[in-house]
Amino acid sequence: MFKIIEKSKIAESTFLMKIEAPKIASKRKPGQFVMLRVDEPGERIPLTIAGSDTKNGTITIIFQVVGDTTRQLSGLNVGDYILDVVGPLGHPTHIENYGTAVCIGGGLGIALVMPIAQALYAAGNHVISVISARNKDLLICEKEMLTCSNEFMIATDDGSKGTKGFPTQILQDLINKGKKIDIVFAVGPVPLMAAVSRLTKPYNLKTIVSLNPIMVDGTGMCGGCRVSIDNKPKFVCVDGPEFDGHLVDYDNLVQRLKTYASNGKDPSLQSVGKDSVCWKPPEDRAGMVHKPAVSMHAAEGHAVIDQLAEGLSSATTGTEKAGAKKMGAIPRQKMPEQEPANRIRNFEEVPCGYTPEMARQEALRCLQCKKPLCCEGCPVSIDIPGFIKLIAEGDFLAAARKIKEKNALPAVCGRVCPQEDQCEKVCIVGKKFKPVAIGNLERFVADYERTHNAVTVPKLPKKTGYRVAIVGGGPAGLACAGELIKMGHDVTIFEALHKAGGVLVYGIPEFRLPKAIVESEVEYLRKLGVKIEVNAVVGKSQTVDELLQNGFDAVFVGTGAGLPMFMAIPGENLNGVYSANEYLTRVNLMKAYNTKYSTPIAMRKNVAVIGAGNVAMDSARTALRLGAENVYVVYRRSRDEMPARVDEIHHGEEEGLQFKFLTNPIKILGDEKGWVSGLECVKMELGEPDESGRRRPIPVKNSEFVLNVECIIMSIGNGPNPLIPSTTPDLQVNKWGNIVADLETCKTNKEGVFAGGDIVTGAATVILAMGAGKKAAKSIDDYVKSKKTSATMSCCK
Ligand SMILES: Cc1cc2nc3c(=O)[nH]c(=O)nc-3n(C[C@H](O)[C@H](O)[C@H](O)COP(=O)(O)OP(=O)(O)OC[C@H]3O[C@@H](n4cnc5c(N)ncnc54)[C@H](O)[C@@H]3O)c2cc1C
Ligand code: SF4
Ligand code: FES
Repeated sequence: MFKIIEKSKIAESTFLMKIEAPKIASKRKPGQFVMLRVDEPGERIPLTIAGSDTKNGTITIIFQVVGDTTRQLSGLNVGDYILDVVGPLGHPTHIENYGTAVCIGGGLGIALVMPIAQALYAAGNHVISVISARNKDLLICEKEMLTCSNEFMIATDDGSKGTKGFPTQILQDLINKGKKIDIVFAVGPVPLMAAVSRLTKPYNLKTIVSLNPIMVDGTGMCGGCRVSIDNKPKFVCVDGPEFDGHLVDYDNLVQRLKTYASNGKDPSLQSVGKDSVCWKPPEDRAGMVHKPAVSMHAAEGHAVIDQLAEGLSSATTGTEKAGAKKMGAIPRQKMPEQEPANRIRNFEEVPCGYTPEMARQEALRCLQCKKPLCCEGCPVSIDIPGFIKLIAEGDFLAAARKIKEKNALPAVCGRVCPQEDQCEKVCIVGKKFKPVAIGNLERFVADYERTHNAVTVPKLPKKTGYRVAIVGGGPAGLACAGELIKMGHDVTIFEALHKAGGVLVYGIPEFRLPKAIVESEVEYLRKLGVKIEVNAVVGKSQTVDELLQNGFDAVFVGTGAGLPMFMAIPGENLNGVYSANEYLTRVNLMKAYNTKYSTPIAMRKNVAVIGAGNVAMDSARTALRLGAENVYVVYRRSRDEMPARVDEIHHGEEEGLQFKFLTNPIKILGDEKGWVSGLECVKMELGEPDESGRRRPIPVKNSEFVLNVECIIMSIGNGPNPLIPSTTPDLQVNKWGNIVADLETCKTNKEGVFAGGDIVTGAATVILAMGAGKKAAKSIDDYVKSKKTSATMSCCK
């Protein structure tokens, strides 16, 4: 929480606030910004830092009331708190002694150009400041700008102060008079920055502008802030916010800024926002039936099961072959689910979980193999027959604890792990019958333990005194933290977003993984003593080197693969084109589907999702739940090559997703207002296998057609976020930008730095990321202890 220390109204609808944020204040440089969220249902918005006071630990923001969030912010007073302030973000302004620098600020932009002018002045530049507003009452920061300027000019539209007209006229006059100008900085409304850039271009006069587009995370994870610079997509939050003004596509920027401008009030954009035609809160939709309640009382129905359980002892004592015959008689227990027609009207979880009777019955199908292949198929080596036996015996809590010996997040893994490709794929029962439902059983006991408030905190060893920093609070970081704390180390997780959990909170939807479950797993780590600092973007708030210098003995980097990819086809910057990361983050982390939350999202009737992995299926099923009537999954290969989990494909089919296999998008079409109006595609056929072993898709001549959609979600994969490598220059990365680390020890080339999960392997799975986190914990333990040994040996010499 961040306390407001000072607040004043400095012009009509314009406020200055000083906020207590010592860490940001100590790091902030001119040109940087913060992401701010006022309260839990609030939207995340970017605001430039207008100043900072390191002595008092405050930052200054100046903002104009333009929407709901800034209105809410303006209603706060001294002594009130803001929930989240993240930063400093973005590249700082490059300051040097250029010679003569012109600083132009328009409207609120005066406050934003002010720190730049101050830094340029301090660096010895001859600063010419031109500030402008519609009238004299809207002029801000006059005194401050005057004190950091060698020449100071004012322009007002109505002539109420200074020159009547636009600041561009003053700049033109300076150029006409032959004034030697080395650089121009322009900050303000887009038309002002565009006009300044147009004016200076023929003179080849270097012009820097600061862009402030729509943002969600501010860390490069969503791609919502993308702009077109020199015809190439750039993310303002990580590549900017400052750019060469001559290369910016201002028309596109203006159009993208209008995405949520109407929020449902403009009939031409009526399907944007929660008051749109196709959106109704789940409870208001016709035909809504709540999912069946599932009993979690172990005592029910035990008599029948106890009879069945007798079979277990005979199976375990007899040969596996004989047991298999017996167990084959019990069918695999199907988990109850919400009916498709109901579930596409809500965000509640689709499968409802086993009852205790079902769990015991399923457990009885396990042969208790002497050489359990399932364990070999499990990336974290859970004692699978061991926990299943305990379920069959009815000791669900003991079963949960057995799993937790190896896996700290069983409720998560039981829901999202691809068991069909891991433990269940090699289960012996599966050779003749359907394999034992290991994942469903894992989920059952984890839920049982949690819903019975039976989660216990194990006794921890004596503290070792070693401190380990974990960068990233996704499955890799959480697993690593869980292991290290149990080894007696002091552990702090630094997480860039306002919630820990990584993809589990921002990516995987509520209907597949309820966020309360992730929260309770994170809470468990807190109970164990793990410290979790949210809103901490390592590389910005502090670097990996600074963590090591500031008392951490080792650092684990588990920052994931969060950089969204686009297809580089025409039309990707149209409104209504989302990366899956942005779409899912708005819905999952920022709860855009919930009417109590302010985060907007485009809710359209016809949606195309491009890709066919889990991310694509999550996006497509989310679009259905947001009210879309037609959701197309567009994939250039065939169903057989779909990388998504079988369960997810099956659920998507049941819910009415329309699959367009062997289809490749080639162009996104837009209407006159810059919104998506269609997706041009070409049919594909499969040729010879490519280097991945899959048959290469080849376009079919003259097969182009247009899919009528108004929203497109790109789910074609994610790359590694470059922030940590770019701020840790001696950390080795491969040609794709993944950190190079030993897959067994998670050691990087940098002393004391370990890495694992998606940032090393590329986008993979939850359980593989957790496995890496566990391996890293073991190596870190060895490493910090060896440091102690070598220190002791050197002092004995
Ligand atoms: C929509 C979606 C659905 C998926 N479905 C499945 C599934 O069903 N089954 C499955 O097994 N896998 C699934 N996956 C893949 C799986 O979620 C990932 O492989 C896994 O989460 C990787 O874990 P991680 O800890 O390496 O990274 P992440 O989960 O990405 O976590 C990384 C964390 O680091 C934080 N971070 C990044 N940079 C910084 C920084 N500089 N400072 C501080 N913090 C930082 C991020 O904010 C994030 O919280 C899915 C992925 C997505 C996107
Ligand atoms: S789950 Fe399958 S492979 Fe594992 S012990 Fe049971 S029957 Fe054997
Ligand atoms: S706000 Fe820039 S990528 Fe998300």
